[in-house]
Amino acid sequence: MALPRCFWLTLFQCCVLSSLLGFSLSLDNRTQSCDPSDLSALKEFAGNLTNGSIVKLWSNDSVCCKWIGVVCGGENNGESVTRVTKLILSEMSLNGTISPSLAKLEYLTVLNLSYNHLEGKLPQELSKLKNLKFLDLSHNMLLGPVSKSLSGLSSIEVLNISSNSFSEDFLFQSVEFTHLLALNVSNNSFTGKFSSQICNSSKALHTLDLSSNRFDGNLEGLNNCSLSLQRLHLDSNSFSGPLPDSLYSMLALEQLSLSANNISGKLSNELSKLTSLKSLVVSANRFSGEIPNVFENLLQLEHLVAHANSFSGPLPSTLASCSKLRVLDLKNNSLSGPIDLNFTGLTRLCSLDLASNHLTGPLPSSLSYCHELKVLSLARNGLNGSVPENYAELSSLLFVSFSNNSLENLSGALSVLQKCKNLTTLILTKNFHGEEIPQSVPTAGFQSLMVLALGNCVFLRGSVKWTVCSIWISRIILSREKYRKV
Ligand SMILES: *[C@@H]1O[C@H](CO)[C@@H](O)[C@H](O)[C@H]1NC(C)=O
Ligand SMILES: *[C@@H]1O[C@H](CO)[C@@H](O)[C@H](O)[C@H]1NC(C)=O
Ligand SMILES: *[C@@H]1O[C@H](CO)[C@@H](O)[C@H](O)[C@H]1NC(C)=O
Ligand SMILES: *[C@@H]1O[C@H](CO)[C@@H](O)[C@H](O)[C@H]1NC(C)=O
Ligand SMILES: *[C@@H]1O[C@H](CO)[C@@H](O)[C@H](O)[C@H]1NC(C)=O
Ligand SMILES: *[C@@H]1O[C@H](CO)[C@@H](O)[C@H](O)[C@H]1NC(C)=O
Ligand SMILES: *[C@@H]1O[C@H](CO)[C@@H](O)[C@H](O)[C@H]1NC(C)=O
Ligand SMILES: *[C@@H]1O[C@H](CO)[C@@H](O)[C@H](O)[C@H]1NC(C)=O
Ligand SMILES: *[C@@H]1O[C@H](CO)[C@@H](O)[C@H](O)[C@H]1NC(C)=O
Ligand SMILES: *[C@@H]1O[C@H](CO)[C@@H](O)[C@H](O)[C@H]1NC(C)=O
Ligand SMILES: *[C@@H]1O[C@H](CO)[C@@H](O)[C@H](O)[C@H]1NC(C)=O
Ligand SMILES: *[C@@H]1O[C@H](CO)[C@@H](O)[C@H](O)[C@H]1NC(C)=O
Repeated sequence: MALPRCFWLTLFQCCVLSSLLGFSLSLDNRTQSCDPSDLSALKEFAGNLTNGSIVKLWSNDSVCCKWIGVVCGGENNGESVTRVTKLILSEMSLNGTISPSLAKLEYLTVLNLSYNHLEGKLPQELSKLKNLKFLDLSHNMLLGPVSKSLSGLSSIEVLNISSNSFSEDFLFQSVEFTHLLALNVSNNSFTGKFSSQICNSSKALHTLDLSSNRFDGNLEGLNNCSLSLQRLHLDSNSFSGPLPDSLYSMLALEQLSLSANNISGKLSNELSKLTSLKSLVVSANRFSGEIPNVFENLLQLEHLVAHANSFSGPLPSTLASCSKLRVLDLKNNSLSGPIDLNFTGLTRLCSLDLASNHLTGPLPSSLSYCHELKVLSLARNGLNGSVPENYAELSSLLFVSFSNNSLENLSGALSVLQKCKNLTTLILTKNFHGEEIPQSVPTAGFQSLMVLALGNCVFLRGSVKWTVCSIWISRIILSREKYRKV
């Protein structure tokens, strides 16, 4: 039975048409050829990279959806598409410049070129990528201004241009990033004030990292920032003035770090509202006044780093409630009074540095509960009394400095601390006034000791400078086999 000729013709036409129209929804879209404009955009992009990287990996065929780092398809506003939607080429040793042709990948939602060696300026055409949600250009060698190239990214959610050499005064002065969740511009050379426009336009910002730039001026630009902010990093800039009150309304804050700026004024008692805070880093600024004693509300706190300021008054006793605390660093301030802190519940504490303050009274005996304590520095204070016997339980200790205090009973201190088997450095200089070097000393302990500083003499493994304590040192340490060669 012969089929009518027109049947074959229709079938033929149908096949041709279907392939022409890309009528193959049932096929894996990875085997489809690229949209021609996506293909030429990618080839142009590769053409601007120096040879030897993906230029070689991307084959000559036109099925670009199979190429390494290229993802096609997915959905765009509920409509399924077979266009290039993601370009993920992180850590691919890309050298060269970023081609303006990328702007032709109009369905692109993710562009990740982090950790490459890309150089030159950002093409302004990038601003046309209206569907782009994630842009990561971090860790390249890009330079120049960015606002014109990025301000049109109306769908952007995560924008990371950190660790490049970008520079611009008054960054993002007129942007409308209404969907922005995370902005990371750290480690560049941006200057000028922080534009409130970033916070004004986005109501759901959760991450803002401006650290390691040259921003200056006050922090009022933060006043309109989303109350859902979780991570705020402003370290290593030249910000000045007091902290804006609005900061204490950002109840979701988990990380607040402002170190190495010129921020002044007090920390408010309102700090008590930031109950999600895990990390509070305010070191190397000009803060003064008391550290608010409100830590019974900050039960998630793991890091409190406030060294090199002018904080005065007592050590906040409510820190005793922060059972997750790992790092407490308040050195180089003007704190006074006794170390009136119950360490019993601080069992995770790993580093305690209260050096260079005006603290007085005895060493806290409850510290012996901090079995994970590795670093203990209480140097340059006015502490007195003897080293509590239960410090022998501080078995994780690596570094101890009690120098420049008024401690007593050197032989007691040594017989306690020699039991801390991992101790490598022990600094006891300028204490034990009027005491003699003990004649009989413990020799069993100090299994790991590398450096012992005592009185005005210093013993260093490998280079011995000694005066009065030489006899003592030779008994305690040189007698042991591993130091015999010293
Ligand atoms: C990038 O490629 C385009 C054409 O492919 C070329 O005109 C331009 O000079 C290239 N730019 C660089 C910096 O290589
Ligand atoms: C890469 O190599 C091809 C041919 O080997 C050459 O045509 C092209 O100009 C080279 N591209 C760059 C950026 O050096
Ligand atoms: C691409 O084509 C060139 C020459 O046309 C050939 O030398 C090269 O091996 C091809 N690359 C791949 C990955 O097929
Ligand atoms: C293929 O396209 C469909 C939608 O058309 C999409 O769900 C799927 O993720 C795509 N596959 C690949 C590998 O891109
Ligand atoms: C890419 O750039 C890096 C750093 O500038 C350089 O070490 C490397 O040799 C370059 N690779 C190529 C293929 O040009
Ligand atoms: C980009 O890729 C790197 C490396 O895989 C990853 O760490 C980073 O989170 C990615 N960036 C974004 C915005 O997803
Ligand atoms: C860049 O920053 C964003 C937001 O902070 C983050 O999601 C992303 O992982 C970062 N990228 C890299 C490579 O660290
Ligand atoms: C910002 O990006 C850098 C990578 O350059 C990353 O290490 C850092 O964690 C990011 N900051 C935040 C707050 O996510
Ligand atoms: C800052 O960026 C430089 C390159 O601009 C890089 O070498 C350095 O590792 C970055 N620092 C951090 C902390 O990421
Ligand atoms: C942000 O909004 C506040 C008031 O909501 C306004 O005073 C300020 O001028 C705005 N900033 C910018 C840069 O638009
Ligand atoms: C320290 O706290 C523990 C419980 O965490 C409590 O049993 C003890 O009585 C407290 N010590 C002082 C001196 O308040
Ligand atoms: C002492 O040091 C050893 C070797 O570094 C380590 O395995 C051990 O866990 C340490 N002990 C304590 C109590 O930290």
